[in-house]
This record gives sequence, structure tokens and C-alpha cells, in this order.
Amino acid sequence: MTGKKRILSGMRPTGPLHLGNLHGALSNWVTLQDPYDCFFFIADWHALTSDYEDTRSITGYIRQMMIDWLSVGLSPDKSTLFVQSQIKEHAELFLMLSMITPVPWLERNPTYKEQITQLNSKDLSTFGFLGYPVLQASDIIMYKAFGVPVGIDQVPHVEITREIARRFNYLYGNVFPEPQAILTETPKILGLDRRKMSKSYHNAIFLSDPPGEISAKVSGMITDPQRARRQDPGNPDVCNVYEFHKLYSSRETIEQIATSCRSAQIGCVECKKLMAQNLIRALEPIREKREYYTNQPGMVEDIIATGAEKARKVALQTMEEVHRAIRI
Ligand code: TRP
Ligand code: SF4
Repeated sequence: MTGKKRILSGMRPTGPLHLGNLHGALSNWVTLQDPYDCFFFIADWHALTSDYEDTRSITGYIRQMMIDWLSVGLSPDKSTLFVQSQIKEHAELFLMLSMITPVPWLERNPTYKEQITQLNSKDLSTFGFLGYPVLQASDIIMYKAFGVPVGIDQVPHVEITREIARRFNYLYGNVFPEPQAILTETPKILGLDRRKMSKSYHNAIFLSDPPGEISAKVSGMITDPQRARRQDPGNPDVCNVYEFHKLYSSRETIEQIATSCRSAQIGCVECKKLMAQNLIRALEPIREKREYYTNQPGMVEDIIATGAEKARKVALQTMEEVHRAIRI
């Protein structure tokens, strides 16, 4: 249909999206929509690989995630936005790929090794968790994506995808292009406590936070740890609040803050207030759109249904080729 190259990426619906997600992935996806033929999907089956015990929230999270996506500017007119579990072909391709994927490829996957030791509150010794990258490979090659915009932590998964695609082509004939990871330069924005922003650390500012909540969260942010008293000069270069200013304040404000922080002319309380104001203002259009979509439940459902239709068309075509190649 279009001459544009295709890219694809997905997100697990494990909770509301925060500023880390916005600057780490979503803003980039929004700009990729024009130059590329984009497929973005909600990876609900992937969420199950680790959160299989309690599945009560997942339907709500899927809906909220689609609303977050639409609110930041992902558009069903430009991109194909869909939900993984609605395209059953992913499961079929996953099954076929699992036949040809050597287990040691999965066992030496760094993300797997790391999570299995770190998330020891959950029993992750499941077949599904080990097979996570095989399901991801089926997501990606199903649409013959040339590029996969992801963060650095996902690069090993794209690498395994390439290996699986290569092996499929070698065994059955050339069906799949080998996708490549498109790494995104992301601003370093940390959570309220200066650790990585994450829902599970309780240090995140969510896109859906109301203004009062944002102000309260910002006022609790950790600043330059060396600046103990108001009259001590601060160092903006090590201050997370300053990083936020760089994203949300005007050039002049940013420069002013840097100088007056170093000379102790501005205190952290005032500095945070200013930042919170600018942050709230910057998020205003997102908040408005979120409200709009929240009040139009039918519309979100329609968008999801239309996305599924578009995705399914491509998936069915690919599966036809797969069946022909495998002779099953
Ligand atoms: N594993 C990805 C993550 O946790 C989510 C994901 C699933 C994905 N399938 C994908 C990303 C395919 C890119 C392409 O972020
Ligand atoms: Fe950070 Fe602003 Fe305080 Fe300086 S004045 S340490 S930039 S919060």
C-alpha cells in the first residue's frame, strides 16, 4: 500500500504509563509515524509470562494503555495500533518457531538470567517465561518489520529474533527479513528518588496524574544531595529536578536556574514549584485528550477493533507463506 518501510514495537500492559515511558519510547514512536509504516501493539500475552497469577487488572490496563497512546499522539490514521492477543496468528507462529529454537539460545539470554534472579518473589521457572523471546520473535517477523524501536534492554531479544528468522529461512526457504533494533537516544530522566523511573519503585509521575498529584510528587523529589541548606550553593548537573527543567522549561529559565542554583539565589522549593508548573502545563494537552477518550469508551473500542483488522490482514498473509514453506 505505502512505499514506507515498516517498523514495529510493543509494550506490556503492566500499569499506567509514566514520564519515563513517554521520553524513553512513546515520543519517539510518535515521530516515527510519518516516515514509517508503523505497527504498535499491546503485548498482553507477554504480560502474562511474568504476571500470570493475578490477571484481574489486565483488561483495564490494556484500555488505559491505548488511551495513553492516543493521548500522546499515536494515531490510528497513521499507524496500526492493536492488541496482541486479538491476533491469534502470533500464537501459531510462536508454536512453529518454538520447534526450531534451540533452548540454549533462550537460556543464555541476559534478560532472562537477570530477571530470574532478580524477581525472586515470582516463580518464573515456567516454559512461557523461557520462551518470551520466541513469542517476541513471532510478533516482529509476522509483520516483516525491518526495524524495531526499543530500549537497550531489548536488544538481546531482537538479536534472538534475527537468529530465529535466519534459522527459519535456512530450513524452509526465504520468508522473513532479519529485523534490526532501532536504538533511541533518550534523555536521562530519573524517578522522584533518582532511581530509574518505574511503577514498581513507586517513584513515577504518571501521564494520568492530576495536577495536584504532580505538584505533590515534585515537591518530594530528591535534588542535589550535597545541598543541605538553603544558603548552600547547588549543582544543577547532578540534580534530577534540573533534568526535568531541561525537558519542560524555556531555554531562559533553564539558564537562569543553573546560575541561580550555583549561587544559592534560588532555593529548591521555589525551583521545584517552577518546574512543576511547567510540567503541568506541558502535560495539559495530554490530559485533555485523555479525558476526551475516557469519556468516549466506544471510540477506543472501535480503534482497537480497526487496528486488529489491519494487523490480521498482514498476519494472515504471512501465515499463508509460512504454511507453504513448512508444508503444514
Ligand atoms: N519485550 C518488550 C518489552 O518488555 C515488549 C514486546 C513484546 C516487544 N513484543 C515485542 C517489543 C516486539 C518490540 C517488538 O518492552
Ligand atoms: Fe536542583 Fe533547583 Fe535545587 Fe538547584 S535549586 S539543586 S536545580 S532543585
